[in-house]
Amino acid sequence: MTTTDPDVEVGRELLQFPPDFLWGAATASFQIEGATTVDGRGTSIWDTFAATPGKVLGGDTGDPACDHYHRYENDVELMSSLGLAAYRFSVAWPRIQPLGSGAVETRGLDFYDRLVDSLLASGIQPLVTLYHWDLPQALEDAGGWRNRDTAYRFAEYATIVHGRLGDRVKAWTTLNEPWCSAFLGYGNGIHAPGIADPRAALEAAHHLLLGHGLATAALRSLAPADHRLSIVLNFSTVWADGASEEHLTAVRKVDGLQNRILLDPITGRGYPEDVLLETAWLGDWTRVIRDGDLEIIEAPLDWLGVNYYAPARVAPADGDVVTPGPFAGLRGVELLPPRGELTGFGWEQNADAFTELLVRLSRDSAGLPLVVTENGSAFPDTVDGLGRVVDVERTRYLVDHVRAVHRAIAQGADVRGYLAWSLLDNFEWAAGYSQRFGIVHVDYETQRRTVKESAATLSRIIRDNGLPPTGYDI
Ligand code: FCB
Repeated sequence: MTTTDPDVEVGRELLQFPPDFLWGAATASFQIEGATTVDGRGTSIWDTFAATPGKVLGGDTGDPACDHYHRYENDVELMSSLGLAAYRFSVAWPRIQPLGSGAVETRGLDFYDRLVDSLLASGIQPLVTLYHWDLPQALEDAGGWRNRDTAYRFAEYATIVHGRLGDRVKAWTTLNEPWCSAFLGYGNGIHAPGIADPRAALEAAHHLLLGHGLATAALRSLAPADHRLSIVLNFSTVWADGASEEHLTAVRKVDGLQNRILLDPITGRGYPEDVLLETAWLGDWTRVIRDGDLEIIEAPLDWLGVNYYAPARVAPADGDVVTPGPFAGLRGVELLPPRGELTGFGWEQNADAFTELLVRLSRDSAGLPLVVTENGSAFPDTVDGLGRVVDVERTRYLVDHVRAVHRAIAQGADVRGYLAWSLLDNFEWAAGYSQRFGIVHVDYETQRRTVKESAATLSRIIRDNGLPPTGYDI
């Protein structure tokens, strides 16, 4: 038999993905747009937080970021040149409603309108996230996510955006990682608005879920039948070094506060009993849960977005000792350091934990199809003398994790897509511009974009809708 397919010639069969598997990359408004005072945009909690000394590394702010607000056409061309089929981005609430409620700034809507048109003209499917953490400051001044009213304001805002983009955008996400908004924003305060109050974190989590449910219902009533609604959660596989009762309890506690606390109510199981018991000592945060809220929160979805970066490792500890870290109310657990190969950000690289997670979620998510909405790694890249960015480590992380998705599908997980985090190097929240997650390098001085080796690799994976079972030279 003669063949011209190089992969067959060298005897390597590709691990193939399902025919309509969705490949792409993701970003978020505050992390890439810059132009924070342009076209009537209001102030967000991240503008305020970044302007507060000591909150963001190096005093970095949302300007100029990747100046994507002005360079979106080039960025869409870049996506097109990489062969991306999908692009996940978020809408900045303060561009649409500068004060978080009431008056609508049409110039903000116009920007996303142009972006969507440009994506569609390039054959790239837009996936819109309505909230990726940039809450209008005016709402925070009234209590932010601690205030139940914010949930209703969010549904109103979601309706406005859908009203403008819904004739072209079919894939919608209410919230990105409400866990981070609640636990990092209000629990340990390392994210905006910087409040360190574990009980407030749990109350905020409930109001975020309520906002999700209200927005989902609002969109469902407006949207044509082919619109697909979702939420994006960040999950970890939680591992301990033993199977004793104490080890299993430590795993269950962290799994509860990381994964099940949000997944269970969304998928119709209500808040997990064990989490309610474990957190009861913080005071009666459940008083914010009103009759009928859980029914709103379990509004039917069409898919679940999964963000995965690293596993969590835990060990049992003295039962009464509060565990330092982001898990509001957690006691009797030690959070262990990451192991093995780490990313530049110090996160554990572990693709097996990803397979395990996807298989488990496919089982525990009420039959919802999964889309990997974020997965990626930060390393300190540089542009070499030949103008290239040879990001060997990120490429390996990417390839290992794409293979992990393939294994999960082979084991029965219903995974429909993979979106790399991130299209561009960008503002990595409290770490400022110090962490580069992009598959495309950004020189923040010149705004020059350089396609990294990892992007070229993703491009080939997309072209082949698959990859070889071994090796990194793809
Ligand atoms: C996720 C966020 C995303 C990015 C990555 C690294 O938690 O959703 O904005 O910062 O982490």
